Amino acid sequence: MSQAIVIAVDGPSGVGKGELTRRLANVLGFDLLDSGAIYRVLGYAVRKAGLALFDEDSVAQEAKLLNLSFECFDDGVHVFLGGEDVSSQIRTEEAGNNASKVAAYPSVRQALLERQRQFLKEPGLVADGRDMGTVVFPRAQVKIFLDASAEVRAQRRCLQLQAKGQKACFEDIVKEIAERDERDRNRPVAPLVPASDALVIDTSAMSIEEVFKAAVDYIVEKTGLKIDL
Ligand code: DC
Repeated sequence: MSQAIVIAVDGPSGVGKGELTRRLANVLGFDLLDSGAIYRVLGYAVRKAGLALFDEDSVAQEAKLLNLSFECFDDGVHVFLGGEDVSSQIRTEEAGNNASKVAAYPSVRQALLERQRQFLKEPGLVADGRDMGTVVFPRAQVKIFLDASAEVRAQRRCLQLQAKGQKACFEDIVKEIAERDERDRNRPVAPLVPASDALVIDTSAMSIEEVFKAAVDYIVEKTGLKIDL
């Protein structure tokens, strides 16, 4: 039987899961599953194929055939659709919204379930998403749910965009985040909710270092792993 450990990190968009899971995978020496990237690539593939996002059957068919891969480069992990590096194309607000729409279809989630589970191998996996602890890895040894108000997340997003020299309108961003939350939390299948056995961390007033420390302490407590920082 596999001894691989799963650290499931769920939470709404813009809450800081990406940064936390990258750091955790790094200190633990585990692989990282960015499940949001899979839904983002699917949304991109659907648009590229000229299919309609509202056509569940076509989107599910595309999900079954999705030729997706992750590759490590010096500047981080790149995401490929077939031979095309789509890493930057899938990081726009529009790509996030399209991902949230295709992710709401039960048949699409079913088509992508096994593919996500195949990322698990020893010594372990850090899994970033919305349903990692509830559906994809319900027996994960560690489940963490990050939360923060939509306003705090929008503020952080504005600062990130400004740091990259891009324009950022707080009102537009908070509206988009609220819409995406609404869709992700209220869909019939695998909605965004903390697993009953998850540690919920409200990151609103915390720095990334504080969140990282809280997560590491919890992982040590639950697994007995020794983590060198
Ligand atoms: O984490 P992210 O912002 O890259 O995710 C984009 C969208 O994909 C998100 O709004 C909802 C969907 N998603 C999902 O439904 N389930 C996951 N496990 C990950 C993402």
